[in-house]
Amino acid sequence: MSRPLLKWAGGKRQLLHEIMEKIPSRFETYWEPFIGGAALFFGISATTSSAGRRSVLSDINPDLCLFYETVKGNPAELIEYMESLEFGNNPVDYYEARETFNRMRGNEYPIEKSGLLLYLNRHCFNGLYRVNSKGEFNVPFGSYISPKMPSREHIISASETLQNAVILNKDFQEVLSNAEARDFVYLDPPYEPVSSSSNFTAYSSKGFNREEQVRLSSVLKELDRKGTSFLLSNSGNSFLEELYDGFHIKTVEARRNINSKGSKRGTVSEILVSNY
Ligand SMILES: C[S@@+](CC[C@H](N)C(=O)[O-])C[C@H]1O[C@@H](n2cnc3c(N)ncnc32)[C@H](O)[C@@H]1O
Repeated sequence: MSRPLLKWAGGKRQLLHEIMEKIPSRFETYWEPFIGGAALFFGISATTSSAGRRSVLSDINPDLCLFYETVKGNPAELIEYMESLEFGNNPVDYYEARETFNRMRGNEYPIEKSGLLLYLNRHCFNGLYRVNSKGEFNVPFGSYISPKMPSREHIISASETLQNAVILNKDFQEVLSNAEARDFVYLDPPYEPVSSSSNFTAYSSKGFNREEQVRLSSVLKELDRKGTSFLLSNSGNSFLEELYDGFHIKTVEARRNINSKGSKRGTVSEILVSNY
């Protein structure tokens, strides 16, 4: 069974069971326009009814999309590069890897950049992805006792799972204009910040504020008119509940452990909104 290769803020692994139970029993193309670690994509792909189904995966983060393209198209080269990497689990190596990663602009070095992204993701603070105003990855060293890198089998199985997926690097609105009736869309946009100090929206240099939530809700209402099924997960709060008034809303409890202050861990409520 294939599992996510990346740790991702807001990753859906702990809610996966709950979400999997809610997905429609039949649908055509699977759409996930906020991929991150793609926990649901990997979860769904492991079910027998998904064999051969087409998926469209997209995210606004270009490094993340390059990473999935590389895993899909060049797993052997990526594994070979990972095995040649000499960066260890210490701050000196980590900051050198981070600097090397930041020097590789655009998509010029897909294998190296994707390999470094994987190393950084497993060694940085809380598996966060955050960039500064110059677009440079700036998450500090994570100080884990023994961070695990994915095995070659894990990379190969993720690559096989990605073979029927189209990977796009686009804004959600543009991507979803192509979804059709009988398709299923799962959306896991950046969270509404739980408190003013939390850093949940810092996935890319562009934040995801209330205006973005409203823009997303209009796209989902349009999908609903077209007959496309959608399921949205987000943090539970009255603003979102009002925005999706009239749809099915289920509240679930989740543990959240990615926060700018490690002390602020605990249970929060999440909502699952669907039109079916
Ligand atoms: C909560 S994460 C998704 C987590 C994912 N479900 C998982 O299991 O790891 C949200 C993602 O939305 C992406 N994103 C933010 N704004 C976006 C936009 N306007 N269009 C598309 N993707 C966007 C971020 O880059 C981030 O990867």
